[in-house]
Amino acid sequence: MRDRESLKKEVRALLKERDAIMLAHNYQRDEVQETADITGDSLALSQAASESAAKVIVFCGVHFMAESAAILSPQKTVILPRMDAGCPMADMITPEELIREKEKRPGTPVVAYVNTSAAVKALSDICCTSANAVSVVNSLAEDRVYMIPDRNLSHYVSLSAKKKMEWWDGFCPTHEKLKPEEVLKAKAENPGAVFVCHPECSPAVVRLADHVCSTSGMYRYAKSSAAKTIIVGTEMGILYRLKKENPDKNFILPSRSLVCPNMKLTALEDVAESLREMKNVVSVPEDIRAGAKAALDRMLKVPRDF
Ligand code: 13P
Ligand code: SF4
Repeated sequence: MRDRESLKKEVRALLKERDAIMLAHNYQRDEVQETADITGDSLALSQAASESAAKVIVFCGVHFMAESAAILSPQKTVILPRMDAGCPMADMITPEELIREKEKRPGTPVVAYVNTSAAVKALSDICCTSANAVSVVNSLAEDRVYMIPDRNLSHYVSLSAKKKMEWWDGFCPTHEKLKPEEVLKAKAENPGAVFVCHPECSPAVVRLADHVCSTSGMYRYAKSSAAKTIIVGTEMGILYRLKKENPDKNFILPSRSLVCPNMKLTALEDVAESLREMKNVVSVPEDIRAGAKAALDRMLKVPRDF
């Protein structure tokens, strides 16, 4: 096996040679985050993808994220180093199912979490991420909203949004595994600790949180919090930067289940191989791309919640 430093050097050299930028989601393996040009949550990475001048975008994340980059920047080559890195939540609603739900609710706008396929986005009015979901819902003129596909994010938004909301019954298998008992145990073992979680956690877990936010929101929260110990309710990849940026603080993962197998697929060797061969290019058919882009562009005009 090649050592990490020589692989990292090869990836950086290939990026330069190909005029490429490497984006990595906050859940990626440590060595991938360490090598990337930009790390961030899904909102920050879609913005970076649309603003970058590079010819090639290497998206270290899951399929819907690379697809969003291809939708926003059709003139760029978007590479997903592991084509098998999907998001089970995004697969929980199909275009046919969404069409049936829309027929039941004429005139009700559809808010699609970015964790959806391009074809589902194309049937939606506006997208959102966990970083702007409340603002996106409140930005709509209608007083009713149908949100897809995450029941947990939708429930969380419904607690503060000024709209009547209905939603699809999807969920993230990784966040769903975190149980309130595990959070209560971590709290009991760490008196004085605060608990921050992602809105993809179940309502019973969200109720226990001192703060609920996107993955990048967690970095801002960790820096600003006076607490020395922070219990973190999201995927374990978040710990890499949390620890690096806050060496004086202690971060606790309350469950061993907080691992997204899809986010962990991408190794540095996959990044190097895809750049060497310029393979694993993600593209979206033009008829779908135009509709999906309209929903993403509308979202990008709305400010972050936190
Ligand atoms: P963020 O939008 O917070 O990056 O989360 C994406 C995701 O897939 C969470 O599971
Ligand atoms: Fe999808 Fe959950 Fe993995 Fe995020 S953590 S990519 S929502 S399966």
